[in-house]
Amino acid sequence: MGHDALHDEVPTLSGAFAPVDRECVITDALDIEGEVPADLNGLYVRTGPNRRFAAPGRYHWFDGDGMLHAVRFERGRVEYRNRWVMTDGLQEELAAGQALWQGIKDPPRKDRPDNPVKNTSNTDVKYFAGSLISMWYLGGDVYRCDPDSLATLGKLSTDPRLFGVPISAHSRVDERTGELMFFAYGKTAPYMHYGVLDRFGVLKNFIPVALPGSRLPHDMAITPNYSVLHDLPLFQDADALAAGRHKLKFHGNTPARFAVVPRHGRVDQIRWFEASPTYLYHVSNAWEEDDGQGGIEIVMTGTPFRIPRDAQGGLMYDEVPRLTAQLAHDFYFHEWRFNLRTGRTRERVIDDVINSEFPVINSWMQGFQTRYSWHTLMGPALRAEEPRFCGVVKYDLLRGSCQTYHEGPNMWWSEARFAAKEAPQDAPKDLSSAEDDGYLVGFVWDGDAHKSKVVVMDAANIAAGPLCRITLPVRVPNGFHATWVSDARLKRGY
Ligand SMILES: [Fe+2]
Repeated sequence: MGHDALHDEVPTLSGAFAPVDRECVITDALDIEGEVPADLNGLYVRTGPNRRFAAPGRYHWFDGDGMLHAVRFERGRVEYRNRWVMTDGLQEELAAGQALWQGIKDPPRKDRPDNPVKNTSNTDVKYFAGSLISMWYLGGDVYRCDPDSLATLGKLSTDPRLFGVPISAHSRVDERTGELMFFAYGKTAPYMHYGVLDRFGVLKNFIPVALPGSRLPHDMAITPNYSVLHDLPLFQDADALAAGRHKLKFHGNTPARFAVVPRHGRVDQIRWFEASPTYLYHVSNAWEEDDGQGGIEIVMTGTPFRIPRDAQGGLMYDEVPRLTAQLAHDFYFHEWRFNLRTGRTRERVIDDVINSEFPVINSWMQGFQTRYSWHTLMGPALRAEEPRFCGVVKYDLLRGSCQTYHEGPNMWWSEARFAAKEAPQDAPKDLSSAEDDGYLVGFVWDGDAHKSKVVVMDAANIAAGPLCRITLPVRVPNGFHATWVSDARLKRGY
């Protein structure tokens, strides 16, 4: 089959999206343009879909088996490796020598209530309790992987209370305490659970969060004292469900709701806040502020969908499911404020000009007020189901300004992470004084040169372009989320 024929088939299986068929370790013969900063020490690891076996039926970008791609920086030395997450589903398929599950566009397996849709563990990766943890957006077992070899070590929790609990992607690690705050959502009441594992992986809190019905939350937020959970009005149409069909609907008359719960709180401490109807995948950050009248306000920032409007300015909610299916969203940057004293929500647009997603902060500052947020620029899609991550933007919330960087239409970015400069030996923490005193590290596929590159940028000045580009002899397919784990954290173990 010629390249063009393949290209015409499924955008997310071709070009920069095409899966790779081998695992490798590359320690030398890397082509480095510029200089790798000596105070950049740690691990950048990005996950994404990488289908191992072709399945009958229709492919969706979210279907591929999770593969980790890691770049280790050590005093100017750079090493790349990639490895599949050895999920139960992938192991079964390897044993069978073929695909045993179809993707999300086709019906789930009725004979496998334990795994009706294959948990590909392809969505999110974090560092927790000495391991990388690999998570899936539909929720399921979380896999632990070795930060050095990327080998799958096992599953996250052996606590029987968590057996069968579908822990979702975007559970969040507090780097200062080492705790993992997680949520799990499902199709049966109470529809959501929330929990906390301590830095050794011991379950410290686990409570039901009753929702009005089955929902599709994607992310959560944490502050030192609170967690924020999402109940958003993009969910299955009840009439269609009753008739046995799945039809996503945006319920434009239903408010978005956010639960604020004390980190170690009880069910009766959950506070619900209503906001204008919206859907968001990703939170940038959240923090606690004094409201000036003795109350606490929880501030949360993120990148919700921009709802399309008709010629009269009316919101076209019915368009949202189609845009979702085509991965063709326009996102903007937004702020919510949940006042624990008054019970009221205030919200504002931070920026509705630039289409950006995959918000990233200096992760040491998670839960504390942040000035900067680095996002992926979303270019106009060339075709349906071909989202284009075309560069990066850095927001300055103090000034209300931003800086962008992109270098042409055929450069395909991945979520780039902030890496603080390594502190001097005698410094107590791995954090420099300034929030943006560090680097932005990510992958770029150069579609003209047909090369994957690791880029390192000055996080304070992304408009200056990469400080260095490391060309890899292998391709890194487009993917989802990434994490940066500093040397200090690797040594500390959380
Ligand atoms: Fe996500």
